[in-house]
Amino acid sequence: MMAVRNARVQQPRALATTLVYQVLEQGDSLSGSLTTALAGIDDPRNRAFARELVFGTLRWCERLEFVLGRLLQKPLRNRDRDLHALLLVGLYQVLLLDTADHAAVSETVDLARRSGKRWAAGLVNGVLRSALRQSQALLAAADAVPAARWSYPDWWLRQVQADWPDDWMQVLDGGNRRAPMVLRVNARKSTRQAYLARLADAGIGAQPHSCVDSGIVLETPVAVDSLPGFRSGDVSVQDAAAQLTAGQLGLAPGQRVLDACAAPGGKTGHIAESEADISLLALDNTAQRLERVEENLQRLALKAACVCADAGATDDWWDGQPFDRILLDAPCSASGVVRRHPDIKCLRRASDLQQLPAQQHRLLKALWPLLAPGGILLYVTCSVFRSENAGVVEAFMAQQNDARELPLDVEWGSRQSVGRQLLPGEQGMDGFYYARLIKGSTSAS
Ligand SMILES: C[S@@+](CC[C@H](N)C(=O)[O-])C[C@H]1O[C@@H](n2cnc3c(N)ncnc32)[C@H](O)[C@@H]1O
Repeated sequence: MMAVRNARVQQPRALATTLVYQVLEQGDSLSGSLTTALAGIDDPRNRAFARELVFGTLRWCERLEFVLGRLLQKPLRNRDRDLHALLLVGLYQVLLLDTADHAAVSETVDLARRSGKRWAAGLVNGVLRSALRQSQALLAAADAVPAARWSYPDWWLRQVQADWPDDWMQVLDGGNRRAPMVLRVNARKSTRQAYLARLADAGIGAQPHSCVDSGIVLETPVAVDSLPGFRSGDVSVQDAAAQLTAGQLGLAPGQRVLDACAAPGGKTGHIAESEADISLLALDNTAQRLERVEENLQRLALKAACVCADAGATDDWWDGQPFDRILLDAPCSASGVVRRHPDIKCLRRASDLQQLPAQQHRLLKALWPLLAPGGILLYVTCSVFRSENAGVVEAFMAQQNDARELPLDVEWGSRQSVGRQLLPGEQGMDGFYYARLIKGSTSAS
């Protein structure tokens, strides 16, 4: 395809088209490709523009697909899907982004010309100019179709409506908004107040987060290297909702703590920062992702044993010593964090909602016997779907009579039949679910 050939593509529109193509046609996740791809663009403004094009096109993909369907006389052939991605990126600019229309059209047409298909430039020019001429009517038609209005796959939208009959618009809208950059101050190195002063000295506008003592919200996202002390572990980038986790574990000196699904290690780092004198085991079943945990711990100058294993196959890695605390930050749909990962909207399938709860239940069931009597297991997902959240925990508790809920005594989120849910955007945070279970009748916390 036109933009893929050169690994160091400097042109933001070409790079964005490549990345959108890889997500839509190859099922690639952006987290694997975005940072490396953007590093190939030297100019920071062009880098930011490329990121905006990728995020915006994927965030509004269903909406743009609807419009494109109206503008194309017939769908493009499989071998022309590169142009399909180019058209979506072009439509995002002319319909939804505040960029100069003439530059958007001429540069997109120019990229089409470079595809080597003689007819492509004419087609792209025709589609984008028609979109500009008919923009109001096209967007009004999209607004009449819920999946196109909210820009989610139809199955996803219907599931959110079923799970959140009173809040479904808030859930969908929250997932479509741009997320702020949030920092976690390393309590071992500094106080939040002191770090806020360093940010102010560096000219970076920021506010403390109201729900979590370690959290700082930046007024505008910045490159991590411009954060004072980032390389030496004074601070990490982590949404405030994720920062709520460590505090709910009731950590204390001498505990054995398991972080069962740890990569890339955001919560592992926070656990290790929060309590120095614990023995911490971080597991993940993906070696490459586990390396990220090790890198993060190294940057923070903290220690944990890192093991690559299936958390559910406990015979393979457990030494027989019970854990006082288990964090199961389970693999999930990530439907609560689409504002940060819009590619998820395009990558998830309805069938995932059958497989994921089964996997979550399997992990919960396998890990429970490893918990000491009176110990606490915190089950966490970044999902808004009930079947991955209260659905899993309720089914588990129905089978496990030594599991009792230890409700979270907090101000954020809303109480569920079991556990607590934060919806995307609520109090500025990502969408997360938490359920805290205690083993046996002994009280702990
Ligand atoms: C939601 S992410 C964890 C995020 C992490 N706790 C953090 O805060 O950075 C889920 C992780 O579970 C891992 N995973 C999936 N299935 C697993 C399994 N059976 N055993 C261990 N890890 C698993 C995935 O590789 C992924 O890294």
